[in-house]
Amino acid sequence: MKKILVTGGAGYIGSHTVVELVEAGYEPVIIDNFSNTEERSLQGIADILGGDVTCHRIDCTDTAALREVFEKETDIEGVIHFAAFKAVGESVDEPLKYYHNNVGSLVALLQVMKEFNVNKLVFSSSCTVYGIPAELPVTEQTPVQKANSPYGNTKKICEEILTDLATSGSDMYTTALRYFNPIGAHPSAKIGELPLGVPNNLVPFITQTAAGIREQLTIFGNDYDTPDGTCIRDYVHVVDLAKAHVVAIERLLSGKAGNIEFFNVGTGTGNTVLEAVQAFERATGEKLNYKIGPRRPGDVPKIFADVTKATEELGFKTTTTLEEAMKSAWDWQMHLKETAK
Ligand code: UFG
Repeated sequence: MKKILVTGGAGYIGSHTVVELVEAGYEPVIIDNFSNTEERSLQGIADILGGDVTCHRIDCTDTAALREVFEKETDIEGVIHFAAFKAVGESVDEPLKYYHNNVGSLVALLQVMKEFNVNKLVFSSSCTVYGIPAELPVTEQTPVQKANSPYGNTKKICEEILTDLATSGSDMYTTALRYFNPIGAHPSAKIGELPLGVPNNLVPFITQTAAGIREQLTIFGNDYDTPDGTCIRDYVHVVDLAKAHVVAIERLLSGKAGNIEFFNVGTGTGNTVLEAVQAFERATGEKLNYKIGPRRPGDVPKIFADVTKATEELGFKTTTTLEEAMKSAWDWQMHLKETAK
């Protein structure tokens, strides 16, 4: 079995990817420092798979600790790098924390990969690199713009580092996946998103409101130039997104990938915030308490992906509707409630 190192493998997208890797016949090895997730995600992975996945509890910015993992885990064939902070607002208040962790971990990882002759990497990027796009849907050729936040800038800088490395004559092969808005949870409801404190993102806020943990959802603005005035996003189910990582690593290992490649990973469809709320209500039968509030500073009015490249070159396809994704997020919220008793 081919061994794949998954940094941030106990996190939201990481844990789903670990499950999909095993199901595709790989042997994932997790690195996580548990700064933004909980031990229970490992238990969830084990429950789904019927056995434990190896996990090294280290910080990915720690070069010496990374080296020890590579020494111990011989035969790592590729790496999927998720480990990063992702709260846009926090990054504005604590930029150094974000540059140190998100950029520092990539540089440390690349250095150690080079030392151990591991040269296949899938990198977690974000549609945030497109800023406020001038054209929709966005393709991989849509110009990358100045980042809106230190978080967004870390993704842009990491892409630049990887591009510089690819053009330096090194033999590193990188596929950067630019995620749109990942939502939902594994159909087993044993793993899902574990937001710390008050969620920033829409779907965990919706499910926590419906579960009575939050009083009311505020929809940030209804005066945008969209059909119902609320922002448009491309909500992609986390299991579909996880599968994109499996096909990306497969392609790298098969030798078919270029030195550096970028792919949009979304559904190709934009939905407004109100449509997302309605999809949740339809999928779950729950009535959501929400109000319209002011715009959230920094929000992109509308963005959704053109996924032609990922479809044609990776064979990527989405299999989950917005309703199904919302239902899975709700089942996960209910699972959290059950297990908290
Ligand atoms: N929203 C609300 N109320 C909330 C939370 C969100 O109305 O309580 C709205 C936002 O205004 C936005 C949409 O729901 O229109 C989605 O917001 P999220 O916070 O869930 O996601 P974002 O699109 O803002 O952020 C995502 C990722 C970031 C990434 C960014 C790039 O979470 O990591 O896309 O655009 F940087």
